[in-house]
Amino acid sequence: MQAVKAGDTDWLQGKTWSLQYYIDEEHHEVLKAAHQLYFSENYINPFLFKSILKMEKEVVAMVANMLHGPASAVGTMTSGGTESILLAMYAYREWARKHRPSIKVPEIVAPSTLHPAFDKAAHYFGLVLRKAKVQSTQAADVEAMGKLITKNTILLLASAPSFAHGVLDPIPAIGNLAEKHGLFFHVDACVGGFMLPWVEKLGKQLPAWDFRVPAVTSMSGDLHKFGFGAKGASVVLYRNAQVFEHQIFVNTEYSGGIFATATMLGSRPGGAVAAAWAGLQHLGQEGYLKNAKAMLEATDLLRAGLVALPDIEIIGKPCMNILAFSTKNNKPDIYVIADFMEEKGWVVDRQQLPPSIHLTVFPYNIPVIGQYLADLKSAIAWAKANPSAMTEGNAAMYGLMARIPLRGMVKDNVRKVFLDAYGKGMGNEAPIAEQPSREHKWLGRLNRFLAFTFKR
Ligand SMILES: Cc1ncc(COP(=O)(O)O)c(C=O)c1O
Repeated sequence: MQAVKAGDTDWLQGKTWSLQYYIDEEHHEVLKAAHQLYFSENYINPFLFKSILKMEKEVVAMVANMLHGPASAVGTMTSGGTESILLAMYAYREWARKHRPSIKVPEIVAPSTLHPAFDKAAHYFGLVLRKAKVQSTQAADVEAMGKLITKNTILLLASAPSFAHGVLDPIPAIGNLAEKHGLFFHVDACVGGFMLPWVEKLGKQLPAWDFRVPAVTSMSGDLHKFGFGAKGASVVLYRNAQVFEHQIFVNTEYSGGIFATATMLGSRPGGAVAAAWAGLQHLGQEGYLKNAKAMLEATDLLRAGLVALPDIEIIGKPCMNILAFSTKNNKPDIYVIADFMEEKGWVVDRQQLPPSIHLTVFPYNIPVIGQYLADLKSAIAWAKANPSAMTEGNAAMYGLMARIPLRGMVKDNVRKVFLDAYGKGMGNEAPIAEQPSREHKWLGRLNRFLAFTFKR
């Protein structure tokens, strides 16, 4: 296994700029020890494992405190941001079924930059998610959101901040919109919930983004991101039990007895709860502040280096240690730059709509920032000297992807990539991607390059 694993991305070297939330070995060992202690416990029944329930409640209370929740705030831990989001969307739908039965298909209004976990929730639960265009800064356009509200709308959404650009939506203004129309309002702080409190404590003024905005009725915040817990830990939190009660699933007819769960999973790992609790205790406010300060200072350094490059522009006004950049008017082509950086060994998160490169700054990226900027400078020079590169290789494919209007074709092909990946090694003789395609000839090639759409 070690030999096989050696072929995976070596993210600790700092060349990866997303996904791997890690501080240092000492903290890692604390998480592992806590996880190990509860390795075997099946937390499907919280009343059987009172110590895990106690930890979960304490974690939820600590998160509620961080996010300025009122005394009535209530919620659960979940297996991650997606589950927190799925559960909140499900609870709102169930609330609407009971209290607004005239609405046959509940609608939700959100800025287009929202995380796809909400699209997944809408897809799973039969909700209509209406996405409003955003401002050129990539922050939500409140007026555009207002125009999408109908008599079937039950909920507004916003990000604090968005994953792609690290841009904070105008939560107070969206709150006003929610109040005006009598709507619920969920703020997704999956990536920012454990950073923005420290950003503010370190002296940066931010518009209110959490339960301080009275219209906010629920939030999601991930322990397995900047909470620095083990994977499989997030919190979904409600202002009060009014909607939360709908999250709890009860079946009284099961032959195995009365069955009830507060979250989506059945059998549930106790270790993830224990590790999250231990991580919070181990770091404490001081630890989080110290790490946040280091990551934010490194982000400032990186931002200054990017701004000093005349061809580069940063997208919007990032509020924490996440940013996205592109080239001015996309000249030279950002995807050509991405290809060059990949050649240099960097793991590049290519984004679309508009084309850009994403960077989240973690502690392990700090030592390589100078190298990144130097390579980027070379990449820009190379892209300028080789304009034809945008019609070749990956750059051509990503460019095409970003512009292609037929998203259905793209969707089908991404699905094929997954089928292929899961089929291989399971006795599937003919990988689907290699089967002759009836579609345009470039679609075959597309399969290999679509990875960026599901990288995160
Ligand atoms: C803003 C935001 N929301 C939701 C999610 C989904 O979280 P998870 O990947 O833990 O399911 C992410 C993940 O990056 C995110 O950044």
